[in-house]
Amino acid sequence: MKKDFIDTNEFTKQELLDIIDLSLAIKKAIKAGYYPPLMRNMTLGMIFQQSSTRTRVSFETAMSQMGGHAQYLGPGMIQLGGHETIGDTGKVLSKLVDVVMARVIEHKTIEELAKSCTIPVINGMSDYNHPTQEIGDLCTIVENLPQGKKLEDCKVVFVGDATQVCASLGFITTKLGMHFVQYGPQGHQLNEQHKEIMKKNCALSGGSYLVTDDRESVRGADFIYTDVWYGLYENEMPKEERVRVFHDYQVNRELMQLGNLGCKFMHCLPATRGEDVTDEVADSDASLCWEEAGNRLTAMRGLLVYFTRCRKEPSGLQIAAAKEELDKVLCDKLGCVEAYCGVSKAEKS
Ligand code: CP
Repeated sequence: MKKDFIDTNEFTKQELLDIIDLSLAIKKAIKAGYYPPLMRNMTLGMIFQQSSTRTRVSFETAMSQMGGHAQYLGPGMIQLGGHETIGDTGKVLSKLVDVVMARVIEHKTIEELAKSCTIPVINGMSDYNHPTQEIGDLCTIVENLPQGKKLEDCKVVFVGDATQVCASLGFITTKLGMHFVQYGPQGHQLNEQHKEIMKKNCALSGGSYLVTDDRESVRGADFIYTDVWYGLYENEMPKEERVRVFHDYQVNRELMQLGNLGCKFMHCLPATRGEDVTDEVADSDASLCWEEAGNRLTAMRGLLVYFTRCRKEPSGLQIAAAKEELDKVLCDKLGCVEAYCGVSKAEKS
């Protein structure tokens, strides 16, 4: 079993389906009113080198819903990136928390963190991929399969820039035997390394992939997905330039009509309304993007449980023995106190 969740390509189709099924089963239990205490007494360290709404809030909510606690370690709040190395940070966090998630600027940071941590590390997005988004997105697709179709029958078209979300969607859909298209402008398409990975995935799964600037490739889509144009953060392109390069790649009503009847719209969010998607599509009945945001929480619960499942709960006898031992120390060092060991100070003296 793998310790960390860094890249879905390191997992088999069956392992990914197990994580998705587990996530949906926990969602169902919570919806019915049962909050499984599967993260009881555990603490998640959440490192963010960049800002986040969905990833941060969903991880923190997942921990509190399942009896655990999350610590937000935001940009500039810890020594990471200062003079303390990533390796030393990983070793220290392994002594202080039970599981770590990190949103990092460079993918090599999450890889280094995972190597130095003895506890599970979950990738909350890097410049290369966004695997927790992939799990949430697949939960959303599973819950919204077109009538009579299974995952392997579905065509998913990503429209626009080859962001880390685009790459991740290509990775997981091809791993699961689905049919993936990136319809994007030249210069903003998935690269040879991405294609090599998708090719390997398809050879095993029977799925397919296509990277193209041909608008006809959108025809027959069951799901049309987009992300912001030209990334976020410091890589952002000036607006005029973005509009010039991507104006044919806006998800609007005309583009949605190229999809199958009942085709659904997906977006990892945040959206730049009026650029990558029109209000009309984002707020339409075909839009799954709000459900998809909710399923970030579904995915985080499943991932946290899956990657901490090796933890052994102590037996009742072990807990009783530990309590007795501590009571003795409390009694010796603080004087006997009824609340600790059932003997009053007066009785002792
Ligand atoms: N989709 C996503 O990762 O959103 P945040 O950047 O708000 O976490």
